[in-house]
Amino acid sequence: MHDDTVNQPISSLSAEINQKNKNFMPMLSVVIPTYNEKGNIAALVEAVRDALGDIPWEMIVVDDDSPDKTYELAFQLAHKEPRLHCIRRVGRRGLSSAVVEGALASNGDFIAVMDADFQHDEKMLKPMYEKMIAKKADLVVGTRYAGDGGVGDWDETRRQMSDFATRLSRILIGNKTSDPMSGFFMLRREVVEASVYDLSQQGYKILLDIISSAPMPLHIEEVSYVFRNRREGESKISLQVMAEFLFQIIEKMSHGLIPGRFVLFSAVGALGLCVHLGILFLLKSYHVAFLPAQTAAIGCAMLFNFFVNNELTYRDRKLKGWAFIPGLILFCLICSIGALANIGVAELAIHQTSSWSLAGLAGALIGAAFNFGAASKLIWERVKKPKRK
Ligand code: GDD
Ligand code: MN
Repeated sequence: MHDDTVNQPISSLSAEINQKNKNFMPMLSVVIPTYNEKGNIAALVEAVRDALGDIPWEMIVVDDDSPDKTYELAFQLAHKEPRLHCIRRVGRRGLSSAVVEGALASNGDFIAVMDADFQHDEKMLKPMYEKMIAKKADLVVGTRYAGDGGVGDWDETRRQMSDFATRLSRILIGNKTSDPMSGFFMLRREVVEASVYDLSQQGYKILLDIISSAPMPLHIEEVSYVFRNRREGESKISLQVMAEFLFQIIEKMSHGLIPGRFVLFSAVGALGLCVHLGILFLLKSYHVAFLPAQTAAIGCAMLFNFFVNNELTYRDRKLKGWAFIPGLILFCLICSIGALANIGVAELAIHQTSSWSLAGLAGALIGAAFNFGAASKLIWERVKKPKRK
């Protein structure tokens, strides 16, 4: 095939490339995690289209098989707007992991992450994009806590909670951004690719996750905006998401020494102890003999612990159907060995310290650690974390 660039002088060729580069506009992928956002998604596509003007863009909706069938509407809309794509994930839940999946499936040089409910101001996408280029930034954070930013009409409790979470996250990343809990930001795709192996992908704090996991120093810029009220539907943030966040902070602070899951497992264990004592007192008040009463109390506590751990601590690897029975049997076995370890260590410790409470605590900690390790490994083993290649 004839190619006339072959006969062109090199200098004119590079001038042409330079001219092309000058006009080059990085492609922007807007990743939108959705769960029950049917009422927002059509208007959002239009709002983003209007806001972005001549910037080359695509939008990737990552929907977790929403009961309201957001994905269905997204696929329909994509027929009219081919720059829109939808990933429908089945059997998985989570804002962070949806964002990661959308980012990895995107084509953009830049990736923006934004909620579907209009709380993030889509008009800031353009200034963010321009700042990415002008400042050669790696990351531009949409912030509520600097410049003209704000949280709108939040009540005092929500304000305080957000403030508390922001303070906590400072423990991890210092003052790198004024709004580490922001769910609204734009970054270079290389940043996602470089940090993806180290992201926890749990909960809501994906930005914090990326900043604390990126292996390279990040040039971070900010653009302020006012957080709006949700347009349709309701928030999906739950107590559980908040608790998970707290445990993850503990895990990071202890450099992985105290896994967040262990804190939760121990908290469930402490609750189990209350169940144990409660049942013991109840049976005692009915004049049941100590041994059968204690045995019944142990049984109930184990059942309670197993059930709650399955629902809460290992929610992402929950045993369902028949798998529940062998799991429960194994759990009782493990706890019995854990109890023996508890007694053994306490017995040793009492000779060393002669303090009842210290010895008791040492025994309980070792017992809990054993139960946690064995249960995680033998009952709720999960797929291994992917390794960096
Ligand atoms: N795919 C998927 N899976 N999307 C989800 C899930 C999920 O399990 N949970 C929530 N989303 C989507 C929602 O549909 C919405 O588009 C977006 O994630 C944010 O969810 P909201 O439930 O509206 O969160 P919020 O308003 O309480 O929290 C927002 O503000 C926080 C700071 O105040 C989010 O932006 C948080 O990231 C942010 O920390
Ligand atoms: Mn919201």
